Amino acid sequence: MTADKRGLFFGDMKTINSIRSMQRKARELCRRHTIALVPTMGYLHEGHLSLVKKARKAADVVVATIFVNPTQFGPGEDFQRYPRDQKGDRALLRDAGADYLFMPDAQQMYPDDYQSYVETEQLSQTLEGAFRPGHFRGVTTVVSKLFNAVRPDVAVFGQKDFQQAVVLKRLVKDLDYPIKLIIAPTRREQDGLAMSSRNAYLGPGQRREAVCLYRGLRRARTLFAEGVTSAARLKKAVRKEILEVCPTAEIQYISFNDFHTLQPRIKVDRDTVCSVAAMVYDVRLIDNMRLG
Ligand code: PAF
Repeated sequence: MTADKRGLFFGDMKTINSIRSMQRKARELCRRHTIALVPTMGYLHEGHLSLVKKARKAADVVVATIFVNPTQFGPGEDFQRYPRDQKGDRALLRDAGADYLFMPDAQQMYPDDYQSYVETEQLSQTLEGAFRPGHFRGVTTVVSKLFNAVRPDVAVFGQKDFQQAVVLKRLVKDLDYPIKLIIAPTRREQDGLAMSSRNAYLGPGQRREAVCLYRGLRRARTLFAEGVTSAARLKKAVRKEILEVCPTAEIQYISFNDFHTLQPRIKVDRDTVCSVAAMVYDVRLIDNMRLG
């Protein structure tokens, strides 16, 4: 174990399980160091590790969190079967350079008499919010609680959850959190499938067809580059492409929205993001791509 130039011991990731201990540690750390937070629900992949690496560059100390947050799952969603691998995750985080792993349990985060929630009103109603009512209320609540436990200067999230990123930027602005958000690019498998813990649900044949979302998004980008700006025309082309790759896909939405405000676009431009959600067999997948 060696001390680095920050006077911190590198390569010796500490696990903290209690909110109070995390708050105490954060109070101590923030006197002399900047803190970067990487919130996750575990079952980590390269995408998460790229967030840790970004965090490493953005602050002195990196705190990663693992908490499968029950309040962001609706009834009938995959909370119970969400993949978990604490031992593997711990090793991956340590190797990626996290200094602390904060891993509270659900009873601490939401004791039986829990009753306070944080909600970003309009932004949380469309797209994912329309298909997963209450999802963002759970996300903004747990992220606020993690902010209060870790007191970060910087927090890193992935662009894969595009709407989540927009909602969280609004949360930080509206509630005056002195936190800089970094949104890191989506990491993709070799064929283009966006990395996601839920990809683990896909069987081998299904996995091949799961690339349909990426292929649809790429089609939108190609057509935009060729001069097509009508969202309706692009939507038709994206739908066609998705169904060509996976004929049984049940498309939930194909939407064109402003990158910063989430305003829907009838005419698209370089700042437009195309987002898609579809059931591929029984696995719900989402993906997005900026057109410009
Ligand atoms: O993006 C996720 O994995 C989750 O929504 C988050 C931000 C960790 C909150 O539970």
